Amino acid sequence: MLTHEQKKVFIETYGCQMNMYDTELIKSILISNQFGLTEKESDADIVMLNTCSVRDNANRKIQNRVHEIKKAKKNTMIGVLGCMATNFKTELLENKSFPIDFIAGPDSYKTLPTLINSLISSGKQQYDVTLSEFETYSDINPTRQDGVNAWIAIMRGCNNFCTFCVVPYTRGRERSREPKNIVEEVKRLVKDGYKQVTLLGQNVNSYRYEQYDFTDLMKMVSDVEGIERIRYTSPHPKDYPVKLLHLMKERDNICNQIHMPLQAGNDRVLHKMNRTYDKQEFLDLVTQIKSIIPNIGISTDIIVGFPTETEEEFLDTYDVMEQVQFDSAFIFKYSERPNTRAAQKFPDDVSEADKKSRVIRLNDLQNNISLKKNHNLIHTTQKVLIESLSTKKSNNEIQGRAECNRIVIIPKEKQKLGDTINCLITDATRNVLKGVELKENQEFAISTKRNLNLIHS
Ligand code: 5AD
Ligand code: SF4
Repeated sequence: MLTHEQKKVFIETYGCQMNMYDTELIKSILISNQFGLTEKESDADIVMLNTCSVRDNANRKIQNRVHEIKKAKKNTMIGVLGCMATNFKTELLENKSFPIDFIAGPDSYKTLPTLINSLISSGKQQYDVTLSEFETYSDINPTRQDGVNAWIAIMRGCNNFCTFCVVPYTRGRERSREPKNIVEEVKRLVKDGYKQVTLLGQNVNSYRYEQYDFTDLMKMVSDVEGIERIRYTSPHPKDYPVKLLHLMKERDNICNQIHMPLQAGNDRVLHKMNRTYDKQEFLDLVTQIKSIIPNIGISTDIIVGFPTETEEEFLDTYDVMEQVQFDSAFIFKYSERPNTRAAQKFPDDVSEADKKSRVIRLNDLQNNISLKKNHNLIHTTQKVLIESLSTKKSNNEIQGRAECNRIVIIPKEKQKLGDTINCLITDATRNVLKGVELKENQEFAISTKRNLNLIHS
């Protein structure tokens, strides 16, 4: 029998950026325990599915994947990792013939080598789904691939218990990493050539370590020499102190961009969701953000069809979207998650047809807003960080992001990955901006011309 040192692991990642980041941690844990990694499932002795259970009815999807993997290669060992680990533990215990070999929850990745060794030596299925109040993986240096942006989890877990959300149950309580340790990581990343860091957390702005809050941490990260861009996701509207907004405005390397989930625009629904703010408070916060940082890019998440949401209440969400004019929005149909308070207390009573119609109407509204806002950026100059030297459609074009997080497509010249260039925006669709690179003297000419136009108009 092979020892684990000779085994090759293939990891398939589902869901959010935190899961992508966790996969980078898992890779490091495996490498330092002498596992091999492979990018090809067919070469793998072990397949790990790093799962997400936030929205889709993913149980069925993962079950099908497990059967598919076993069918392709009978002796592949399969592990279910991440948010669905707890669900699958029950499945495993109730249905011994279900072909999963091991299960590890989001706080158990360091035990993976032990779990796999025990599996190999005993031939028995293994699991560890214990949630920890302390595990932050701050001692693990993730195995990253992308050379421009690096994700850094600064806190894990969530204490908010929004009634629709499974995260507090699957990922446990909030805990934050020591600021010094995060700053050291950012310094290392700059040395390794990364230009941007994105600070991650289920509830990123409720970061707290001893006397340090999120604004303190942002200041420390922003002070790291050589870090060009800092982003963070996802904040909760309840933790937005004015001092954070002023810091964002003052610091050139903190991007003027916020992804701030609204979820719903109606007070009764927001209360039932346990979001702790009402419609007016959200609108006031957006007004304050825009008054401090006028060119801010704001995106959001929305859930339609939360239990008992009426058509009239849905129209409040529509109204907030019209008033705020988000740059983009992710719009989801409510889907009942096991164990959540909503699942226990409120029947999922909005019809599928109503949910669908509400999603379509919000998407139509947002598409028009995004197109209009992108069109307004034509003839402006944007600083673009180059993230890819080709696009899906062409090898003659490259792609990057403006500070507000919009994708900008530019004709390829001699740019390199990670360059920051000035671009004149020449065209726009609802999803992307198109631009041309400006050389220094052109930039001067264009700004002068625009000033003249302004004087003459
Ligand atoms: N149903 C639909 N959408 C959900 N989200 C979280 N839980 C649910 C659910 N049960 C959405 C929220 C959150 C995003 C990550 O996923 O909008 O902000
Ligand atoms: Fe879920 Fe709410 Fe926590 Fe976000 S803040 S992870 S939606 S419980």
